Amino acid sequence: MYKIQIEGQGTFNCAADDVLLRGGLREGLGIPYECNTGGCGTCKIEVLSGEVENLWADAPGLSDRDKRKGRLLACQCRPKSDCVIKLRLDEKCVPKVIPKLQKVKLKHVQLVTHDILEVHLQSDEPAQFIPGQYALVWVNQELLRAYSMSNLPNDDGLWVFQIRRVPDGKMTNLLFDEQLREKADIQIDGPYGLAHLQEQPRPIVCVAGGSGLAPMLAIARGVAVNPHLQHHKVWFFHGGREQRDLFTENQLRDWTELGERLNYVPATSSQFIEGIRSGFIHEVIQDVLGEHLIEHEIYCAGPPPMVKSIEQLAHQVGIPHQQIHFDRFF
Ligand SMILES: Cc1cc2nc3c(=O)[nH]c(=O)nc-3n(C[C@H](O)[C@H](O)[C@H](O)COP(=O)(O)OP(=O)(O)OC[C@H]3O[C@@H](n4cnc5c(N)ncnc54)[C@H](O)[C@@H]3O)c2cc1C
Ligand code: FES
Repeated sequence: MYKIQIEGQGTFNCAADDVLLRGGLREGLGIPYECNTGGCGTCKIEVLSGEVENLWADAPGLSDRDKRKGRLLACQCRPKSDCVIKLRLDEKCVPKVIPKLQKVKLKHVQLVTHDILEVHLQSDEPAQFIPGQYALVWVNQELLRAYSMSNLPNDDGLWVFQIRRVPDGKMTNLLFDEQLREKADIQIDGPYGLAHLQEQPRPIVCVAGGSGLAPMLAIARGVAVNPHLQHHKVWFFHGGREQRDLFTENQLRDWTELGERLNYVPATSSQFIEGIRSGFIHEVIQDVLGEHLIEHEIYCAGPPPMVKSIEQLAHQVGIPHQQIHFDRFF
């Protein structure tokens, strides 16, 4: 364990095989972050003294300017000595459930669309998280990727993920290969993520694009069982390129158990299909809700360009940033 001092803001202990971000979060500190995997740049720090190992020097979360200024990513730095670092803690980032690493077993897998595999993992301890959060999945102690839970927290230790195959993707190709996944040593570290379900008075808009379905499913399922949200309606916008990327309305109704409170709006961006809206999902939302969008709490997950378009739309309509919660899938 190394002692890490955050200049002017206290200290925490970080294990030699952990990274500074997760070491701090495990001690309940509000270190700003989003993706946990080097993509977003939210966890930038300066190391004022001490030594760290940078696990991914070319991580896209750091610009050339950041590198020139000596900035590093807390999610990619392991301590090699006691350190003093500079960052600004944020109360909003204090974890509501303290993340931890645990060994899991592969329990079940099933294909839910042509390229999305639902993976069920089993832990010995209860699966504690807030709908909308994600976990880091470690395979064979070398591959680490973030995946959002699509189920609800439970005492049975069940963690369900919906994982989209990425051409030539290291982790997804391993998980889609029956033999490789059967003999994989899997651990999960979590929960993480701030784009989780909130108990707010407004009706809800969920926007899922690409592989962003899992956390939106969890949010919709969370609304269905939360007594504080029992009258909330949910608009579920789901964008895919083609029809085969989308779920059917019945599938979504069965999964979310929201009954008449669910409004499902699928849309395709590269294929025209009778009865389904065409276009990018932010255009469809604008078309369907227009200025009423401001009346909603917005949750969104998927590829960074899609999330950016939704943020821009929200900004145009004057939605305060506290009312929009997103995870970009880098
Ligand atoms: C918060 C969050 C939640 C996500 N949830 C889901 C989900 O529910 N379902 C889903 O299908 N996908 C999700 N993703 C995307 C997922 O984490 C993977 O990026 C995706 O599955 C592709 O992984 P791959 O290994 O197959 O592809 P690859 O192309 O091999 O890897 C892509 C990703 O790996 C990481 N990476 C690459 N090189 C390095 C390196 N040297 N060191 C460290 N990291 C590296 C980067 O994050 C990169 O974007 C999520 C991503 C984030 C950030
Ligand atoms: S949280 Fe470190 S780069 Fe995204």
